[in-house]
Amino acid sequence: MIFVSLPLEGKVALITGASRGLGRIDALTLARAGADVIVTDILIEEDEHLQETSERLGPMAQVMTQTKQVYTKSTTEQIKALGRRSSAYRMDVTNRDEVQSVFNEVIKEYGRIDILVNNAATLDHTVKIEHQNDDFWDRDLKVNLTGAYNCSKAVWPYMKDQKWGRIINMASVAGTMGGYGQASYSTTKAGVLGLTKTLALEGAKYNITVNAIIPGIINTEAFQMSNPDLRDRMIARTAFKRPGEPEDIANAISFLVSDQAKYITGVGLPVAGGIDLFTF
Ligand SMILES: NC(=O)c1ccc[n+]([C@@H]2O[C@H](COP(=O)([O-])OP(=O)(O)OC[C@H]3O[C@@H](n4cnc5c(N)ncnc54)[C@H](O)[C@@H]3O)[C@@H](O)[C@H]2O)c1
Repeated sequence: MIFVSLPLEGKVALITGASRGLGRIDALTLARAGADVIVTDILIEEDEHLQETSERLGPMAQVMTQTKQVYTKSTTEQIKALGRRSSAYRMDVTNRDEVQSVFNEVIKEYGRIDILVNNAATLDHTVKIEHQNDDFWDRDLKVNLTGAYNCSKAVWPYMKDQKWGRIINMASVAGTMGGYGQASYSTTKAGVLGLTKTLALEGAKYNITVNAIIPGIINTEAFQMSNPDLRDRMIARTAFKRPGEPEDIANAISFLVSDQAKYITGVGLPVAGGIDLFTF
């Protein structure tokens, strides 16, 4: 695998939802570039309530836990093996007290937070509006949208004081194009783009840049769990006729959080293999 590696020595990055999938690869990629990385997720191996939490979260979380696809510990170990500092925290992005206490703890231990990647999300159901489960609608808004707000608000005073910060929000083509059967998910991802632009405006005078990544379909554990038929149809819509790989996302993030991207803010960068182009 080839990773972008603009220097991030001396920076501290915190990533939400980093126990697997894109968050995990983002964590490893930023560490390779020199950052110390805090790995957070609602599901972490060390949590004695892991089983209960995954049952409460929904079917995908249950399968991921049962099949041991929760890699928080091994991710921090891999980061440490690269010579960087790393810690894992259980952090539910919807729980403001928990978010604040994790951020306080990180500041105490690491002295700063330079990079926040709002990656945590729920992407576990596709259903038409008449069958949309109201609890899942509420949950998706809370995790995907309010979660990004909670973490951005918590990190803001530190970045403001440092006069340097980088926030990356994970959006989706479902947020820019809509997604059949994805009312809740696409709504949250469209909302994340509004949050990105507003925070970009407010952050500029403190050298805080805020950008969004707009992935198409990326080959993660979650993608592999989706219906094969649906998967093939989505792949057929890309210009490349294949899904992206997690490092495609991580490389884009590595650039946007570097000093070299200091004049880029408020953008939504598609990393989507042309799924948003008119193919026929
Ligand atoms: N994989 C794709 O094709 C794709 C496409 C478009 C956008 N995205 C976005 O990229 C991001 C990562 O996607 P992924 O494929 O790695 O998904 P994933 O489901 O594998 O990872 C999401 C992570 O978020 C965690 N999480 C869920 N609820 C949480 C909460 N309340 N608090 C903290 N953590 C919580 C999960 O435990 C999981 O580890 C998401 O924001 C997703 O919407 C992914």
